[in-house]
Amino acid sequence: MGQTSLAGRVAIVTGGSRGIGLATAHALHQAGAAVMICGRSSEALSNAAGSLAGGAPVAIQRADLSRPDEAEQVVRAALDELGGLDILINNAGVGRFGSLSELSIDDWQETIGTNLSGVFYCCRAAVPIMKERGGGWIINVSSLAGKHPFAGGAAYCASKAGLNAFTESLMQDVRRDGIRVSAVLPGSVNTRFGGHGPDPAADWKLTAEDVATVIVDLLAHEPRSLPSRVELRPSSPPR
Ligand SMILES: NC(=O)c1ccc[n+]([C@@H]2O[C@H](COP(=O)([O-])OP(=O)(O)OC[C@H]3O[C@@H](n4cnc5c(N)ncnc54)[C@H](OP(=O)(O)O)[C@@H]3O)[C@@H](O)[C@H]2O)c1
Repeated sequence: MGQTSLAGRVAIVTGGSRGIGLATAHALHQAGAAVMICGRSSEALSNAAGSLAGGAPVAIQRADLSRPDEAEQVVRAALDELGGLDILINNAGVGRFGSLSELSIDDWQETIGTNLSGVFYCCRAAVPIMKERGGGWIINVSSLAGKHPFAGGAAYCASKAGLNAFTESLMQDVRRDGIRVSAVLPGSVNTRFGGHGPDPAADWKLTAEDVATVIVDLLAHEPRSLPSRVELRPSSPPR
C-alpha cells in the first residue's frame, strides 16, 4: 500500500502519551495530519508533544476518558484548537488483571469506564461533527482478549468484547454517513501496558509501531472499502 497523505486532516489519538497511541500519533503526524493527544498525565502529554514537534499542529488535552464531561472536552478542544475532526483513534485503555476475588470494584469500574464507556463518550461527541463534515474515520483499538477470554482477564476481556460489539454496531449505524468505523485487535504488544515492560527480551511481541502501521494503512483505503476488523498477531510467538 502506498504512502497515505493526511495533510489537512485533524486526528485525535486517545491515550496518545505513550505506547501504541504515541506511535500512532507519530505515524499520523508524519503523514501530515494535525494531531491531538489526550491522557491523564499532563507531564506525559507534554513530553509526548515535544517528540512530535515540527510539521502540522499538535495539541494536548488532559482528560480521564472514564468521565463523560472530560471525554467530550477532548473533542471540543480538537475543534477549537485544530479546527475540525476527521479521524478518531480510540486507543486509551487500562489492564487490571486478577481473579474475581482479586478484582476490586474500582478495578472493574476503571476498566469498563475507560476501555468501553470512554469510547462511547468520545464517539458520541465526535459522530455529529463527522456527519456535518460529510464523513470521517473512527478506529477503536480493541484486543484479541475480547475474542479469546482467559483466566484473570474477566474485567479486561469483558471490556474488549463489549468494545468489539459496540464497534460493529456503530459501524452499521454510520457507514452511510461516510463515517467508517473499524476495530484493530492486536495480540501481545511490547509496551508498558498493565504496568509491565516494555520487556527488552520479548522481541517476538508486536511493537507499538506495528499497530500504528496497520492503523495508518486502514486510512489509505478507498472510500468504498471498509475493512471493519483487523486482527494482528505476533507472527512467531514462543511455543
Ligand atoms: N500492550 C498490549 O499487549 C495490547 C494488546 C492488545 C490491545 N492493547 C490495547 O492497546 C491500547 C493501548 O495500550 P498500550 O499497550 O499502548 O498501553 P500503555 O502504554 O499503558 O498506554 C495507555 C495509554 O492510555 C492512556 N490512558 C489510560 N487510561 C486512561 C484514561 N482513563 N483516560 C485517558 N487516557 C488514559 C495512558 O495515559 P495515562 O496513564 O497518563 O492516562 C496511555 O497514554 C489499549 O486500549 C490496550 O487495551 C494493548
